[in-house]
Order: sequence, then structure tokens, then C-alpha cells
Amino acid sequence: MKYDIKDLNLAKKGALRIEWARNNMPVLRMVYGRFKKERPLKGVNIAACLHVTTETAVLMEVLKAGGANVVLCASNPLSTQDDVAASLVHNLGIPVFAIKGEDTKTYYKHIEAVLSFHPRITMDDGADLVSMIHQHPEKFLAKDVLGGTEETTTGVIRLKALAQQKRLLYPIIAVNDALTKHMFDNRYGTGQSTIDGIIRATNKLLAGSVVVVCGYGWCGKGVAKRAQGMGANVIVVETSPLSALEAVMDGFQVMPIKEAARRGDIFITVTGNLNVIRKEHFLLMKDGAIVCNAGHFNAEIEIPALERLSRSKKTIRDFTDEYTLVNGRRIYLLGEGRLINLAAAEGHPAQVMDMSFSNQALSVEYILENHNKLKQAVYKVPDPIDSEIARLKLASMGVRIDKLTKEQKKYLASWQMGT
Ligand SMILES: NC(=O)c1ccc[n+]([C@@H]2O[C@H](COP(=O)([O-])OP(=O)(O)OC[C@H]3O[C@@H](n4cnc5c(N)ncnc54)[C@H](O)[C@@H]3O)[C@@H](O)[C@H]2O)c1
Repeated sequence: MKYDIKDLNLAKKGALRIEWARNNMPVLRMVYGRFKKERPLKGVNIAACLHVTTETAVLMEVLKAGGANVVLCASNPLSTQDDVAASLVHNLGIPVFAIKGEDTKTYYKHIEAVLSFHPRITMDDGADLVSMIHQHPEKFLAKDVLGGTEETTTGVIRLKALAQQKRLLYPIIAVNDALTKHMFDNRYGTGQSTIDGIIRATNKLLAGSVVVVCGYGWCGKGVAKRAQGMGANVIVVETSPLSALEAVMDGFQVMPIKEAARRGDIFITVTGNLNVIRKEHFLLMKDGAIVCNAGHFNAEIEIPALERLSRSKKTIRDFTDEYTLVNGRRIYLLGEGRLINLAAAEGHPAQVMDMSFSNQALSVEYILENHNKLKQAVYKVPDPIDSEIARLKLASMGVRIDKLTKEQKKYLASWQMGT
């Protein structure tokens, strides 16, 4: 079996950490039980490009239990947990191509490696894998792909753009757009793990500091709320009037990045956009300002400008680079501007990935059952899957809710019929 990982000897540690995640993913365990019995993915090749974390390992177990042949590469050069990669290879026999800290060339070589397994289904996080297929459709036999799934906001945006240009070659299910994904994973998962990553990288006290959150979407809302909960004074930077208004009414100060740049102690970008913090902003920052990113690509902070403005650079702690600017001030860049929650911490907690990855597994089953009916378009996760995941999650938490009475159902139906 071909694979490319850091060290197979890490497998034992990885297996224990995967066990911990599995214990916290009750919904996915239920899917595992059914898949093992029914084998709905029997013989199907799946190429996955995801963050190689303990939760992803549990998803790989589920796909394998369903009968799929799975291969996995990383969806970010810094997010791989090498012990998890080792355990997947050693204990599950899954070919993994991912090493934490791999360079860009190796990152793309690894994507090519999983594509050489001739997938019928692709599973992506950020659309790098699907983009590679679209760049070389003949080489990677795009015509044989039945469909794919996409995990994150940025990936869905890229794929919807391809569909709009009529260039998308097969159907995609936008897992990110399921309510049981973005309402929980992006908000609570990115919210908590971003703060976790900053603390692990810096051990800074948040209480009393000024935290600037750029982007008040699903992820930004989660980050801002959790930073506030730890005693930080939070400033939100937005470009959308609606999201800015929401931030104001949620009790945050809102202002342009140019003003926030002078005030912040810690800056977090989470917009999915380009060069949100730029040269002119670095020049305004206080000595000791910390800058990091939780958006998908490492393009939100203009790192080349920071490099050009600096007279020296040193790594002062793991995932913390100190840049001394020509004006003598120091700026600390965390995790090379890559997703800080995955670079310096462990990514989202298993409890939220339970729902995101149940959406992934059930969407793969849905594609296999329905690919004849699907067009070359980006689809929502079907509502029945979304609400079933919420129901199972609540049940696993021991939370019960009310049912509509017959009278209430009739009353609501009468409004829908316009009577
Ligand atoms: N770190 C993680 O683990 C993780 C998890 C989920 C999503 N993501 C990524 O995080 C990013 C944001 O995702 P989301 O679901 O919150 O998206 P979203 O679309 O809900 O929110 C993005 C927000 O950023 C704002 N914005 C855009 N450009 C801006 C700018 N220049 N300045 C300030 N605000 C700006 C938009 O108006 C919008 O409100 C995406 O790249 C997504 O893929 C990361």
C-alpha cells in the first residue's frame, strides 16, 4: 500500500486520541452502526481532502464500515495531526498522504496522489481537490466521478462560481450549507478552537485585552462571542452593512480596520477574503500586536507586505513569529497566517464535527442513490438529512422537545393554505 506520512510509530498515540473523538461523536457512531450492517458504499472509491484530525479519522472509519475504499490527503499544509495519519495507515489500512508542515509542492503532490486512486466520489474542504480535477479532467477521469461533497464556506463559494460559469463537471453537495453544519461547526467550533489556538500559541491573557475580529459571519460571530466571554473588549470589522448592524446590536464596537488597527492587541481575520489586514494597517499597530487568521486560506493577512516592512524575523515560540518592523515595533504572526485553530490547536471539538461529518457520510450515501437525477450543480444537503441529524444529536444529549398537537398542525396548515 502506498502512503506518505511522517512516522508510522505514532500510530498508538493517534489511536488513543481517535478513540477520544469517537466517544464524543454519538450521531456518527449511529451512522457507523447502520453502514456496517447495510454496506451502502460497497466498493466505491472515495478521495478525501480534509484536515487530517481525530474527527476526520472517525469519519474515515464510518466510510470504510460502509464498504468504501478511502484515500485521504490534507486540505491544509499545517493542519495534519501526524499521529492520526499514522493510525489511519497502520490500524485501518487507509492510504494517507499528509505531513504537518509539508511545503506547497508536496501539498499538491499529495492531492495528485489521492486522485490517482480513480475516485467515484470526492470529499473536499476548500475545493483544492475538485479544482485539480477540473484543471486536468482527462488525467483524473472526471467523467467517472459521480459526485462530491464540500465542507467549508470558501469551498462552496468556489464551486458555486464554477457552476455559474457552467464549468462544474459533476454534482456537489454543499455540506457547509446544512444548518446542522454551519450554525454549530462554524459558530461554536471555529469560535472555541480559534481562541484555543491563540492561547496555545501565545499563552496570552484575553481578559482586558482588545480583540479585533475581522468578519462577522458564522465563524466571526462565534469567535467574537467567545473572546468577549473571556473578558476581552471586542471590536468587529465588517464590509456588509447587515452583518455590521448585527454586530452592533449584539453589543460590539464596529469600525473600519484602519481605526481598529491602532487599538487592537489581538487581530483575527475570518472573512474568506483577500488582504483584509494590509501594509498600511501593520504600520498603525501597537508594539506587540498579535495577528492571526481563522479563514480558509492564508491570504487574509498580507504577509508579503509584513515581510517587506520588517528588518528582522524570528520564531519566538511554536507557531509564533516575531517581526520587528523598520519603525522598531514588533508584530507577532501566528501559524504563518494559516487557520490558527488547526495549526496551533486541534481544530473543532468532536461534538460539533459529529454533526458536520454525519452530513458528509449521509451526503455520500445520497449521491450514490441519486446521482442519475443530479445535474452538474451545487446542491443543499436534503432537509430530511439535516433535521434527522439535529434530532439524533438532541437525543444523544438527552434533550427532549415538544411535538405539535393535531390541533396545532391543522392550525399551521390552514395558514399555509391561505384560509
Ligand atoms: N478555521 C476553521 O476551522 C473554519 C471553519 C469553518 C469555516 N472556515 C472559513 O472561515 C471563513 C469564513 O467563514 P464563514 O462561514 O464565517 O463565512 P460567512 O460568509 O458567514 O462570513 C464572512 C464574513 O466576512 C465579511 N467580510 C468579507 N470581506 C471582509 C473584509 N474585507 N473585512 C471585514 N469583513 C469582511 C463578510 O461580509 C461576511 O459577513 C471562510 O474562509 C471559511 O471557509 C474556517
